[in-house]
Amino acid sequence: MYQRVKYDLSEELRKIREAGLFKEERIILTEQKAAIRVEYPAGGSPREVLNFCSNNYLGLANHPEIIEAAQTALRRYGFGMASVRFISGTQDLHKALEARISRFYETDDSILYSSCFDANAGLFESLLGAEDAVVTDALNHASIIDGIRLCKAKRYIFEHSDMQSLEASLRGAREGIDIWEGDSLSKEPVPVRNIIIATDGVFSMDGDIARLKEITALADRYCALVMVDESHATGFIGLKGRGAVEHNDVLGKVDIITSTLGKAMGGASGGFTTGRKEIIEILRQNSRPYLFSNTLAPVIAGAGLAAFDLLEKSDNLRRQLLENSAYFRHEMTALGFDIVPGEHPIVPVHLRKFENDVWLAQNISRDLYDEGIYVIGFFYPVVPKGQSRIRVQMSAAHTREHLDRALAAFAKVGRRYKVIS
Ligand SMILES: Cc1ncc(COP(=O)(O)O)c(C=O)c1O
Repeated sequence: MYQRVKYDLSEELRKIREAGLFKEERIILTEQKAAIRVEYPAGGSPREVLNFCSNNYLGLANHPEIIEAAQTALRRYGFGMASVRFISGTQDLHKALEARISRFYETDDSILYSSCFDANAGLFESLLGAEDAVVTDALNHASIIDGIRLCKAKRYIFEHSDMQSLEASLRGAREGIDIWEGDSLSKEPVPVRNIIIATDGVFSMDGDIARLKEITALADRYCALVMVDESHATGFIGLKGRGAVEHNDVLGKVDIITSTLGKAMGGASGGFTTGRKEIIEILRQNSRPYLFSNTLAPVIAGAGLAAFDLLEKSDNLRRQLLENSAYFRHEMTALGFDIVPGEHPIVPVHLRKFENDVWLAQNISRDLYDEGIYVIGFFYPVVPKGQSRIRVQMSAAHTREHLDRALAAFAKVGRRYKVIS
């Protein structure tokens, strides 16, 4: 039997390769940090490169206090729990982290997951049935899309960050769904019961921030709940690092926040949902990744608590990150690169003005790697056709010297390909 499957899969792999879309792993031989040693291609000789493509926004992935907290948790609480949360997988450490997350976001309660992907996958199905609706931004993360697919609610997709499109979707949901039987309308349209508007807080391809002030105002008008995924914002966007919700001054107006511990907050793994009391209670009863997947390792919970402690103690890392982002954005713009104004540490270098944008994204990122600057080119189907870009990500761990080396390499390679003059 496998011969047939093998043939089909090999054909699919061949097509992926032919389209230039085959993803290869780069093997990092050091800890995750600004300057790393990478073996790429596999088996090739390792090189020292500056890392501009991780989500290690605050540089906590190898921070001594995080490592110390992880070691303390490991010694005190052991390595694993060998259980899901509700059987024998809840330690006081997990409860402490949940309480800390609720305190941080000023929410009623929080629930931990193994990842934010799980938090999103286990959210919508637990809260919404066939009589409900979810209204979702077209550029939401894959985990939100998959979470929505798992629930029976009616789905409305609004155009990215387009408030008119959002309002039209909300109106559609409130006015009702046509019920067709055969080729005739069997009943009057049925309005949906509950609505959740779902959006990323920050969109990972552009680093643009969701328009949460307008979204929460529309939610009020159409009696909808709001869910925000803060994965690319927790720890560094907003005055105290409380994400797009804080940045937009809508703390308390957003009903559900999901986020990850796997980016700015130490970068290992782990996710959470935080929000209204009854919502979190229902998730503890019904959410499948919570019920049927192993509990978060104590090491991760201990290090997660330390990451929140670090944020509370000082905002030096957050400031450093914003300073690095502002400097890099300013200098790249001055060089003549196409940078959309913003403040997020995700800095896409757009190639949309060029017809050969895919080729440019592939070649420029490869040449930058040869110059010791590790960045990734994104092109269709990861981003829309004609919208290829090099996505550069800043970290608080980058020094000015690191940034200047990246700028010099971008200038050299950009001129080589006539992207700048
Ligand atoms: C917006 C968003 N949500 C969720 C996730 C998944 O997070 P995790 O790695 O914790 O599963 C990501 C990670 O890429 C993300 O960018």
